[in-house]
Amino acid sequence: MKNIGSVKEDLKVEKRISITPEIVKKLIDLKFSVSLEKNYGKHLGISDEEFKSKGANLFDSSKEVLEKSEVILKVNCPSEEQINSIKSKSILIGQFDPFSNKETINKLIKKDNKIFSLILLPRITRAQTMDVLSSQANLAGYKAVIESVKEFGKAIPMMMTAAGTITPAKVLVIGAGVAGLQAIATAKRLGAIVSATDVRAAAKEQVESLGGKFLSVQGAENLETKEGYAKEANDDFKQKQAELLKNSVSKNDIIICTALIPGKKAPRIISEDMVKSMKPGSIIYDLAVGQGGNSAFSEADKIIEINGVKIMGAKNILNSLALTASSLYAKNLFNFVYNLYSKEKKDIQINKEDEIISKTLIDKEL
Ligand code: NAI
Repeated sequence: MKNIGSVKEDLKVEKRISITPEIVKKLIDLKFSVSLEKNYGKHLGISDEEFKSKGANLFDSSKEVLEKSEVILKVNCPSEEQINSIKSKSILIGQFDPFSNKETINKLIKKDNKIFSLILLPRITRAQTMDVLSSQANLAGYKAVIESVKEFGKAIPMMMTAAGTITPAKVLVIGAGVAGLQAIATAKRLGAIVSATDVRAAAKEQVESLGGKFLSVQGAENLETKEGYAKEANDDFKQKQAELLKNSVSKNDIIICTALIPGKKAPRIISEDMVKSMKPGSIIYDLAVGQGGNSAFSEADKIIEINGVKIMGAKNILNSLALTASSLYAKNLFNFVYNLYSKEKKDIQINKEDEIISKTLIDKEL
């Protein structure tokens, strides 16, 4: 029987957890044993007793958990100290970014560990239940709207009252991928007038199906790869997009930025002049702040005020809804473990013929 373990993340930067009580039970049903560090979910209001009642074993230190575990589930890469406690031949599964965590990943590989990075998951139908990027970005898009509305000093929906009519707020969403589409849906639900833009032609129909107006860059080629991601825009496109947005930006009250090209620095779309053209009291929420930002002036975890316009963006917005994010993240991880699980052998089996396994596995130094 294999032991699956998880230890606390660095709570200063990460509040999500990888195993929830619901998932403990599912793992135990598959005949794994589950080890967790003491106070594993305390910051989210989940007590050790709740984990124990589902069958988990709780240990005083992360060291004890890691020394016992053949499979380790995490959100971010383990710390230096944690790496020392991980035994060789263990399997680590998490949202480990091979680009920014090369050194840590190489240390683990040198210890003969196998790493599965779920950010490398192929976006195929069978992998959807394991897709951490989608489950988390969906929540991020929702929360970005909520945080913006909190800072915005006016009401969002149209209201007709005896004292007069309040006009609805206007929200512009830049980038209509997973986060952007949820931002559109959330802003619509709150009663805003929503428009959105994207470089992929396929996004038009999706934006419109949610009740948003699509702003197309006229004459621009469709910048979509065959995997469905965006290609980097050329200067001609950037200029046309800037022309299109110049008028639109100043008319909007809230802008949610979510534009991303995988593996690249975030495209700069909102210029300094565009920010300065907005009405005082307007909000820009830059979800891409961690990749350099889509907007001028955006700085991670700060609210910058320029002429009364607030530009904001949390590096990890999921910390502000960590319980919901953890619940989906833990389900994604469980589905990934289940895909690794051989029903005949009743154990984990790494079948490299499976595209999901081969694409996410890192077993050689980077
Ligand atoms: P995604 O890949 O699903 O969507 C990005 C969209 O941007 C795509 O539809 C793409 O076509 C579009 N795009 C690319 N270049 C563009 C341009 N020049 N103009 C207009 N649209 C453009 O990505 P997802 O998962 O929705 O994530 C969006 C962003 O949010 C990423 O930067 C991601 O890292 C970030 N994010 C931030 C979080 C936080 O806590 N701050 C949490 C989750 C996601």
